[in-house]
Amino acid sequence: MSEEPEKQDSESEEEEDDVIDDAEFERSMAPASRGRQSVSAEAYGEWNKKKAFTPPVYEKSEDQKERLKTVLSGSFMFSRLEPNEFNIIIGAMQEVAVEPSTRIITRGDNGDTLYVIETGVFDCSIPIEGQEEWKVVKTCRTGDVFGELALLYNAPRAATVTATEAGTCWSLDRETFSHIVKEAAQNKRNRYDTFLAKVPLLASMDPYERSQLADALRVETATDGQTIVIQGEVGDKFYIVEEGACVANKDGAEVMQYGVGDYFGELALIRNTARAATVVAQGGPAKLLSIDGVTFKRLLDVSELEKKAEGMYK
Ligand code: CMP
Ligand code: CMP
Repeated sequence: MSEEPEKQDSESEEEEDDVIDDAEFERSMAPASRGRQSVSAEAYGEWNKKKAFTPPVYEKSEDQKERLKTVLSGSFMFSRLEPNEFNIIIGAMQEVAVEPSTRIITRGDNGDTLYVIETGVFDCSIPIEGQEEWKVVKTCRTGDVFGELALLYNAPRAATVTATEAGTCWSLDRETFSHIVKEAAQNKRNRYDTFLAKVPLLASMDPYERSQLADALRVETATDGQTIVIQGEVGDKFYIVEEGACVANKDGAEVMQYGVGDYFGELALIRNTARAATVVAQGGPAKLLSIDGVTFKRLLDVSELEKKAEGMYK
């Protein structure tokens, strides 16, 4: 099966913008092309803004760089950047040592920084409606990002984030995030949030968790008749059908058909067993959203899936 490159439509537009060089700009501003001046001026504005961006570079030891590379490689938001972008992010991040009980983010504040966790445990809390108490809505650990919402949506901090033990984070400023990461991250969340909300299994999921799932998923395509999982093999992915259809065969007999929004591949992950059936794309190409085993166990309700499985498979 082939993995699709992530679509970043507006990014390719950006690349086109980037190829406006000085000579081209001069030409577009020449008297003969006055008619286009307002458009050109607009293009120049964008081009100029991009040219003007100089990412901060904070000096780091080899040890820091290695640790940071490992952390970013394990984070969905950063792991798929182009090498040059990845290096800009490495340069722009700053190490933050965190004492236990430190409040790093306060709900309602304006925020200009996001954090990626190297070590430690961080609780994100929001007030319970109509009550004095607060509840922890997410506990973040190594590889998790927090503080991205204020930067993605220009909104006040949506939760308070407190360290429950000593740890190390890496901080990134708003400007570098906006230039290098924001667009791709936003596109992916926007594109899949709506689809995932319509998947019956995920309908009751907390919307923030669903957005984390959107960050983590990969798009794979299977041609008509192509095998996606094989009975008896080890499994490390869970699948949701985004487009097309698939069938499951067990011991040579068809046992299940799947359409858009259906899922398969959960059993091997929740029971630590070999794949219980073979699943094949049928009736045309299929587009699948795959989620790795670790993310699957962290974000999905495994006991609910087990209960469903007991009722579903004879
Ligand atoms: P931000 O709003 O910038 O600052 C608080 C952070 O808490 C937020 O970004 C998210 O990274 C994180 N967070 C974790 N869980 C939630 C949640 N359920 N709702 C809002 N923010 C959350
Ligand atoms: P898994 O065992 O991980 O991989 C094969 C998948 O086929 C399995 O998870 C289920 O999602 C799906 N499946 C469909 N029908 C059956 C069935 N009758 N028994 C077991 N798995 C099934």
